[in-house]
Amino acid sequence: MAARSGKTEPMDPDQTYAIRRDLQRTYPVMVCGDGIYLHDADGKRYIDGSGGSAAVTSIGHGAEEVVEAMAAQARRLAYAPTHAFTTEASEDLAEFIATEWAPRLPVPRPPGPSGAGSGAATCDTYRVWFVSGGSEAVENAVKMALQYQRERGQGTKHLLIGRWGSFHGATLAALGFGGNTGRRRLYAPVLPPAEHIAPCFPYRCAANGACPPCDLSCARQLERVIRQVGPDNVAAFIAEPVVGATLGAVAASPGYFQEIRQICDRYDVLFIADEVMTGFGRTGRNFALDHWGVIPDLIACAKGISGGYAPLGAVLAKPEFVGEVRSRGRSFVIGHTSAGNPLSCAAGLAVLRYVRDHDLVRNAAEVGAHFLERLRDLAARHPMMGDVRGLGLLLGVELVRDRATKEPFPPAWQVAKRVGTATLERGLVSYPGSGTVDGALGDHLLYAPPLTITRSQVDELVEILGESLGVVAAEIGAATTA
Ligand SMILES: Cc1ncc(COP(=O)(O)O)c(C=O)c1O
Repeated sequence: MAARSGKTEPMDPDQTYAIRRDLQRTYPVMVCGDGIYLHDADGKRYIDGSGGSAAVTSIGHGAEEVVEAMAAQARRLAYAPTHAFTTEASEDLAEFIATEWAPRLPVPRPPGPSGAGSGAATCDTYRVWFVSGGSEAVENAVKMALQYQRERGQGTKHLLIGRWGSFHGATLAALGFGGNTGRRRLYAPVLPPAEHIAPCFPYRCAANGACPPCDLSCARQLERVIRQVGPDNVAAFIAEPVVGATLGAVAASPGYFQEIRQICDRYDVLFIADEVMTGFGRTGRNFALDHWGVIPDLIACAKGISGGYAPLGAVLAKPEFVGEVRSRGRSFVIGHTSAGNPLSCAAGLAVLRYVRDHDLVRNAAEVGAHFLERLRDLAARHPMMGDVRGLGLLLGVELVRDRATKEPFPPAWQVAKRVGTATLERGLVSYPGSGTVDGALGDHLLYAPPLTITRSQVDELVEILGESLGVVAAEIGAATTA
């Protein structure tokens, strides 16, 4: 199949007008996708093992239902100004997310006829604000948290606490409260101030020599920092429930987020969950925090919400956020040109209906468990696979030089990148990352294929990964029993 302009040959970096992500590389030209596969202009097929960059393509490529919904919306109305109008598409998607996807919020029992608390228990749910992607979702969640604190008379609460080893987006503020050392370094002098605690990282726990089991001392660091900087100064804590890009699918220990929730409540600090990667079924539950029954105050989401069919992100806010601002006759001071874009919302609605109708959250849990098992089998043959981890279909492999000591490879060897290149050559898109240990040392691979993937497709993926690890191990002289 030919690309529209006929630009189907991989072009050298000095032959293109486009600024590409890696300025040193020649990129294959991707021309179409179907299901979990991508096809380049030379007819080569790739498994979309990372689900885009990364964890985006939740329902796979080429779903006709989504294409038709988008075409119908584009014919009727592709854009409407949000300062003057709302649209059916954004209202429908907000309702669908609030009523079918978001966690239920318990509402205190209203007083019954015979006294307090004897009326019927009710449930409420989150309200939804649409943006164009993950960084915007995170930044808008933070702005809503700051404004909410101000509106309810807590205006001194202005500080954000994030975690090292986390990624919340590439915009300056998101980099500031994020903890991805490599992506922060260049801009460090202009990043807004934020506090950081260590992540909950069982394989490389800095707090408890015996971890696992986790003694939750990593969670209690949050309390220490809040007390150090003063609770009156802290607006919110932000975390990824499963750390994706920076650490390679590190899920928190059982009890961690329950402890975090309690600490936030104790000090009147808001809890923002960054579910940009983990939301909408990726980890085998609607949202990753559902695994632990923890209710955040705000949820930032993107990626899987529209499966890559259109740029879309959202903030889910507890109803009191809207109530507090509205009751004072004001509105949130947020807003972007493409907020609530009807074409993106139509895509989002069609994608999330597809996830529901094809039972893909369950598939993510079941096929994810099979994937994890297959990676563990592979680790038995490849000692450089130091750790295999993750939840549902968000899985990671940490690569080490010595499995016994967990010694990482020298950064100059670029081991994760080499494995990523080797898998790409063999028809598998991986998402390699480095700096896993401390921002400088460490290598990992992230896998987040479409939630439609089958067991046999997982086996195909793991086969290619195994072959690629063998090739790189031979190049660098690492041990392998294969
Ligand atoms: C957890 C998390 N938050 C935020 C973002 C930023 O999203 P975007 O790249 O859509 O701005 C990402 C992107 O990878 C992410 O993984």
